[in-house]
This record gives sequence, C-alpha cells and structure tokens, in this order.
Amino acid sequence: MDEIVILGGGGLASEVADAVRAFERDGGLVCRALYDDDRRLKGRVLQGLKYAGTIQDYLDGDRPGAACVIGIGDNAVRERLAAELAAAGRTVRAVVHPTAVVSGTATVGAGCYVAAWTFVGPRVRLGCHVVVNVGTSIGHDAVVEDLAQLCPGVRISGFCHVGRAAFLGSNAVVAPGKRVGAGARLSACSFAGRDIPSGTLASGVPARCIG
Ligand SMILES: CC(C)(COP(=O)(O)OP(=O)(O)OC[C@H]1O[C@@H](n2cnc3c(N)ncnc32)[C@H](O)[C@@H]1OP(=O)(O)O)[C@@H](O)C(=O)NCCC(=O)NCCS
Repeated sequence: MDEIVILGGGGLASEVADAVRAFERDGGLVCRALYDDDRRLKGRVLQGLKYAGTIQDYLDGDRPGAACVIGIGDNAVRERLAAELAAAGRTVRAVVHPTAVVSGTATVGAGCYVAAWTFVGPRVRLGCHVVVNVGTSIGHDAVVEDLAQLCPGVRISGFCHVGRAAFLGSNAVVAPGKRVGAGARLSACSFAGRDIPSGTLASGVPARCIG
C-alpha cells in the first residue's frame, strides 16, 4: 500500500484524515503521520496520526517514500506550500472520499481533496490542490483551476469556470456557464448570476462586488 501524510493539523486536516482513513479501509492508501508547524503537537497522536514534525521537515525529505496532501484551508498558505512541494520534488496525491461520485470522464488533479457526499460531473476538470468540501456539486464540463476552494454545499453549474485560488463560501451558487475569476471570493450563500471578476469579493443574492 502507498503511504500518504497530511500537511496541517487543524480542522480541514482532521476531515482529510477521516477521508484517508476511509480510503485505507478500501485498501488504497495508508496514512500514519501528519506534519504541522505547531511544535506543541510534538508527541501527540491526532485521530490515529502521529505528529511527525514540521512541514519543513517533510520538505527537507522526511519519509522519502510518502506522498502528501495539504490539509490547510487558507488559500494563500496552500498556494505557497504547493510551490514549495513542487520545488522540493515531493509527490502530492489526491484524496477522494469513497462516498464522492466522480464521473469516469472527470479529471482530478494531484493534491485535490474531494470530500464526502460530493458530485463531480462528466468532463469536469479539477486542477491541482483543489478543495471540494462536503456536499458540493460540480456540473458537467465545469473547470476548477488549481488551488480553488469550494466550501461545503457549493453548487457549480455546468460549463462554469472557477479561477485559480478562488474561494467560494458555503452554499454559494454559480449559474451555468459563469466565471469566477482567479483569487475572487464569493461569500457564503451568495448567487453568482454574472461573472465575478478576478481578485474581487462578491456577496449577496444576486452577488454584487463589494471589494
Ligand atoms: C468570503 C468571506 C470569507 C469574506 O470575508 P471578509 O473578507 O472577512 O469579509 P466580511 O465577512 O467582513 O464581509 C464583508 C462585507 O460583506 C458582507 N457579507 C459577507 N457575507 C455576505 C453574504 N453571504 N451575503 C451578503 N453580504 C455578505 C458583510 O456583511 C460585510 O458587509 P459590511 O462591510 O457592510 O459589514 C466571507 O464573506 C464568507 O463567506 N465567509 C464564510 C466562509 C465559509 O463559508 N467558510 C466555510 C469554511 S469550511
């Protein structure tokens, strides 16, 4: 069995840990350790995962055979870490919860976390390190670029495009074919009936740019 470690020791990491555990039951991956920069975790075991050291320890080559997945919600931190992992030549792997329904024609990039009870439709393309959180659905032919984060219950309609490192709060909805630009943030429960420009904050039903 292949080994995977989780980078991060907070809330998202604990959810990723459960997903990996479910994977493990299916015989796909084994996960025994996590890395986090909070050294107070030293000597502790979180959800059966041993604290193995700082993220820098992993970047420096600890557990050379182990791939990783980032379990950190902050998009800026994930973006920096993704670049550091690539520079260090570490292998990143996707974690897909066994209850997720992923079309056979969809592609899931390295390092994605696809949580429980999600739907990833036909011909969807997920970039690398995308977070598809619990209960989210992504309609046919949508594209979600690297490092984007879809919080629980997000609805991405068919033919949508979600840009790099965009952040969609819980239960946000994007109308068919609309675009959420790179780095844009769409607040929880908002409805994007029009394109959301890159780098902006949009809120409400219908969503308006407020920042
Ligand atoms: C996108 C988000 C993170 C932006 O946070 P922020 O930069 O701190 O911005 P704020 O929350 O202060 O909101 C800025 C303004 O938008 C308003 N706003 C925020 N969310 C809104 C919403 N869903 N609908 C309408 N208005 C909203 C706020 O009231 C505030 O207005 P004000 O300036 O008049 O007070 C935040 O709006 C959000 O959606 N948070 C929920 C994230 C979430 O779902 N997390 C789940 C993690 S698993």
